[in-house]
Amino acid sequence: MHWQAPFLVLGLALQATCMTMNRDIPSVIEARSAWTFLGCYTDNVSGRALPNGEAVPGGTNAMTNELCQSTCLADGFSIAGTEYAGECWCGNAIVNGGGPAPDGNAGCDMACKGNSAETCGGPNRLDVYQYSSGGTTGTGKRGLAYNNNNPDGNAEYANLFVGYSKITWGYDWGYPAYNLDSSFEFVPMLWGLPSGSDPSWTAAVQTPGTKNILGFNEPDLTYSGSSNILPANAAAGYVTYMEPFSGSVKIGMPNVLWNNVGSSSGGNYDSAVWTEYFLGNCTTCHFDFAAIHYYQDCNPSDGQSGAAWFQGNVTNAYNTLNLPVWITEFQCYGTDAQQIAFLQAVLPWLDSQSYVARYAYFGVFPDYLVSSDGTELSDIGVAYATT
Ligand SMILES: *[C@@H]1O[C@H](CO)[C@@H](O)[C@H](O)[C@H]1NC(C)=O
Ligand SMILES: *[C@@H]1O[C@H](CO)[C@@H](O)[C@H](O)[C@H]1NC(C)=O
Ligand SMILES: *[C@@H]1O[C@H](CO)[C@@H](O)[C@H](O)[C@H]1NC(C)=O
Repeated sequence: MHWQAPFLVLGLALQATCMTMNRDIPSVIEARSAWTFLGCYTDNVSGRALPNGEAVPGGTNAMTNELCQSTCLADGFSIAGTEYAGECWCGNAIVNGGGPAPDGNAGCDMACKGNSAETCGGPNRLDVYQYSSGGTTGTGKRGLAYNNNNPDGNAEYANLFVGYSKITWGYDWGYPAYNLDSSFEFVPMLWGLPSGSDPSWTAAVQTPGTKNILGFNEPDLTYSGSSNILPANAAAGYVTYMEPFSGSVKIGMPNVLWNNVGSSSGGNYDSAVWTEYFLGNCTTCHFDFAAIHYYQDCNPSDGQSGAAWFQGNVTNAYNTLNLPVWITEFQCYGTDAQQIAFLQAVLPWLDSQSYVARYAYFGVFPDYLVSSDGTELSDIGVAYATT
């Protein structure tokens, strides 16, 4: 079902891996869902409304709003504006008196040099877009990875977190939600590849309130609890079971163990390579966010802190995939005190990274985030709910 501890070897199998992911596949990695159009804004050459002019990959002739947005985001900006058909401007606020144009959107009438079907501003006019990370409801990122493995067969362990305002969503590696409290957003997951048509999955996605959907669970791994799917087959599965919902809900990429080195399904390659092959086979797919897992010692043997490892790996996933990141499972291996210290270090960091959309610590089970007898939060659970 979920990931267990046997891959503790990860940290020992370290090697310098060189990411060769194709970062320039706009039809695959699409920023549309995370960017909102603010309008056509005035700009002033003597004092730019968005002060940072950015070069985009391919140069001005390649300019599109999506390209400008991903460039701004990668450089740490949350507002992107295109102007005069081929310029890209970035910032974190509208400055120097810029604002909505007095003539509405009429002045933003120049076709983008890289795509004549969309506009890229006009003379002294910016098409302005604002980025917001992650899901569509609430502001919370912190969630619950739970299951119904308890005497009542329901979500009672997850519901111990009701009333902690930082906890806003949950998933159970599948669907239904059982009786997950309605104060949490439930996110259905298609755990593995269905063998035929799957009306129950369609019904789960179309259940009112569903805003986001998660795809295959660890298709990149081969152990018994992973879905172990070859990249080409996983891509075909996405076309059949995920892509039809593009635009109506936000779609996550497969949940891969991002820091796995050398044990992927279909070959002894890294999970990042599995992901690259998956993307190479899924060129018509739309993804709204990436989904990764992370497991490592709280005190890794190379002397770095566990928090530094984690932050480096999450940042690497974002820099590679250029999508908002959900960390759907993560845990450091160590004593309760070590795990609490890890959480106290990484939770504020996660909350302050604009590209981290959601995360869920592993997991809502007795002796993890819940006490051994299943009646209350464990010390780790309290730290997770309140830090
Ligand atoms: C442009 O900015 C300059 C310098 O701040 C200012 O003097 C000028 O009035 C501005 N022009 C417009 C049209 O806002
Ligand atoms: C498609 O996936 C297969 C493995 O399933 C891989 O060998 C192939 O290179 C991938 N194609 C692309 C274009 O990435
Ligand atoms: C994860 O972090 C470790 C330690 O810094 C690093 O060696 C490894 O390459 C990272 N892996 C990824 C996929 O970012």
